[in-house]
Amino acid sequence: MDNTGEKLFKYKGYNFERSLVKIHIVENVDNFEIRDDDVFIITYPKSGTIWTQQILSLIYFEGHRNRTEDTVTMDRAPFFEYNTHNLDFTNMPSPRFFASHLPYYLAPKGLKNKRAKILYIYRNPKDVLVSFFHFSNWVARLEPADTIEHFMEKFLDGEVLGSRWFDHIRGWYEHRHDFNIQFISYEDMKKDLRSAVLKICKFLKKELSEEVVDTVVQQATFQNMKTNPQANYNDIIKNEIGSRNDEGHFLRKGITGDWKHHFTVEQNERFDKIFQKEMKDFPLPIIWDINEE
Ligand code: A3P
Repeated sequence: MDNTGEKLFKYKGYNFERSLVKIHIVENVDNFEIRDDDVFIITYPKSGTIWTQQILSLIYFEGHRNRTEDTVTMDRAPFFEYNTHNLDFTNMPSPRFFASHLPYYLAPKGLKNKRAKILYIYRNPKDVLVSFFHFSNWVARLEPADTIEHFMEKFLDGEVLGSRWFDHIRGWYEHRHDFNIQFISYEDMKKDLRSAVLKICKFLKKELSEEVVDTVVQQATFQNMKTNPQANYNDIIKNEIGSRNDEGHFLRKGITGDWKHHFTVEQNERFDKIFQKEMKDFPLPIIWDINEE
């Protein structure tokens, strides 16, 4: 173990948020008993975690769909390594859902039985960077950055929560045969949410009526999540995690291609060069823009 900056905690080469990580969970990950019907949502930060947590909650919990129960999405699909509400994972009823930013090599060994499922949600790294920049300046427990330039340096060096984007996605993809894993992109969810929900249901072997699928899709839109306090985490950030100002939002813009409003031409070219070098021959499609504006 070694220490990285004030806000980060490096363990086995990977950066966690220091004050929130439950290090006993990470250190004992191999003893964590995985059940066959567990589902893990794995993401690099700012790639659509909360969105997928909400989609799973809507798929599985009728009370969540109908808004007759007021459990926050965070408790339906809690963060594995950041168990902020100290839920008793061992005694949670099945099926259990977890969200996690863990790299493949720190994931519970039990996931290698290939029965428990993993949804890996990824997003184009330029939009991840922009989302992360705003998030870091809003959330008190992350290191702020004065400019995109400064944040880009940290992002490319992996001096951020989650370490390097390139290593995270590559690692999971290259070890995909060790797991029962489905890759879905944020941009595909954005382009056609209904198809993405159906793809998730198929992977989870969950059959829903047309009507229920419609409700899931409707409640998982950006606008509906933004106005639903159970789903938008604004209160959790403000009251539990701590924010630097009142202007920020977990659900900030929810678009593809926002990087075009933030990167200079030079920054974009630099990023492209590094991307091409790091992701050479990487087969998953990365969508930079879906022409929605
Ligand atoms: P932006 O900051 O670009 O708006 P994570 O949950 O992994 O931290 O990712 C957060 C990002 O996902 C934010 O991106 C947020 O707005 C976006 N997001 C969350 N719910 C969404 C939805 N229903 N539709 C589109 N984007 C969503």
